[in-house]
Amino acid sequence: MRIVAPSILSADFGNLERDIKMVDRSAAEWVHIDVMDGVFVPNISFGFPVMKPVRKATPKVLDVHLMIVEPEKYVRRFVEAGADYVTFHHEACADPHATIAEIHAAGAKAGVSIKPATPAEAIFDYLAELDMVLVMSVEPGFGGQSFIPESLDKVRALRKEIDKKGYNCLIEIDGGISVKNAREVYDAGVDVIVAGSSVFSAESPADMISEILNA
Ligand code: DX5
Ligand code: ZN
Repeated sequence: MRIVAPSILSADFGNLERDIKMVDRSAAEWVHIDVMDGVFVPNISFGFPVMKPVRKATPKVLDVHLMIVEPEKYVRRFVEAGADYVTFHHEACADPHATIAEIHAAGAKAGVSIKPATPAEAIFDYLAELDMVLVMSVEPGFGGQSFIPESLDKVRALRKEIDKKGYNCLIEIDGGISVKNAREVYDAGVDVIVAGSSVFSAESPADMISEILNA
């Protein structure tokens, strides 16, 4: 499976509706929404109020990536605001089982994300409960960073475990992806590519989305 999820972190917030409509008309099936609290990561992005205009502008899958501490407190509100997938960080969550159950009870798909220093095996004991694993291929917090190549070893380890156990769990990767490394990333076993700066800095973002998808 191949999906591209453009990250609106790199969109023009003065023209957010225009940028979401562009994604809506493009080959991207998902929209990636990065929520940062200034505590889990050294940056602050946006929260609930931004979900509304995005949800209104597109029926596509809204893929919310929570880079926040105590995600269990907020997952339900993100689902109510229109999230289809809610992904929290393994490193930020005291009780992943309960948080996954809360997301499912609210009616969304549940994902967990791991930072570059966290091994794939750290989440193996609750992989069965997840709809998606998000491998960070940069340190979370900022768009426009360079891809960490070792992330692909982690993708391969996850792919192997998911296939071995027959789990129904997507693998997403986030950070430093462009048309240059997209093929290698898909070949490692990734289902969903997040792309921020490479899409929104392109002359034609919609064409760039297709190029990444077909890399
Ligand atoms: C970083 C975010 C990413 C970011 C990716 O913490 O999670 O989704 O937008 O940006 P690029 O594609 O520019 O690395
Ligand atoms: Zn993200």
